[in-house]
Amino acid sequence: GRPRDLAGRKVVVSAGGTREAIDPVRYIGNRSSGLQGYALARTAAARGAEVTLVAANVALPDPAGATVVRVESTAELREAVLTAAGAADVVVMAAAVADFRPATRSDSKIKKSDGGEPEPIRLATNPDILAELGERRTTPSQVIVGFAAETDDVLANGRAKLARKGCDLLVVNQVGPGLAFGTPDNAATVLVAGGEPVEVPRGPKEDVADAVWDLVAARLG
Ligand code: C5P
Repeated sequence: GRPRDLAGRKVVVSAGGTREAIDPVRYIGNRSSGLQGYALARTAAARGAEVTLVAANVALPDPAGATVVRVESTAELREAVLTAAGAADVVVMAAAVADFRPATRSDSKIKKSDGGEPEPIRLATNPDILAELGERRTTPSQVIVGFAAETDDVLANGRAKLARKGCDLLVVNQVGPGLAFGTPDNAATVLVAGGEPVEVPRGPKEDVADAVWDLVAARLG
């Protein structure tokens, strides 16, 4: 069985991938399945935490023991995460958040123009929710965890991202065949602010989740 080392702790996990509307029927999205975030929510609940799961466009049943808030866009995810983060001991940003959104959303379905050139979609930059969380920790002891998918110079890029986003832990996923997006398995290096990195060998996403909670529990003391 799992330790009950998160008993009485309030935990927020974001999962899935945000969608940014182009018009009423179209969006810009990504391939995140939500499996890693859901594994984090499930294992945290099993370790005794009170879990709020902010789920963006995830086609999975609600995990046992978590309060689920469903969102679509980055703006909605940001609102839900920042609201829940106020009283949280831990925030884990496992969601794939769109870096950009269409600058304007058409109120009606965009039509194929008669043989003309299509209009370009102008993009605007989304707020970086993880960086905001790192900047305005609601208590000095609040633990903030980010995720990153890096393909090369994993340690150097990961270290820089950990510092830039001001988080305590950064889970760097290895992207490759049978790993990460949409698969039950993952392999990761967890970078630790002020500590040595922890390698999680290829295995079920629960293994990455439990490795994260081990490090979180140690930081919470
Ligand atoms: O910078 P990058 O997108 O690689 O960072 C990934 C991490 O930052 C993830 O934890 C993701 O949830 C978070 N993120 C965010 N807001 C954004 C973009 C990414 O919170 N706009």
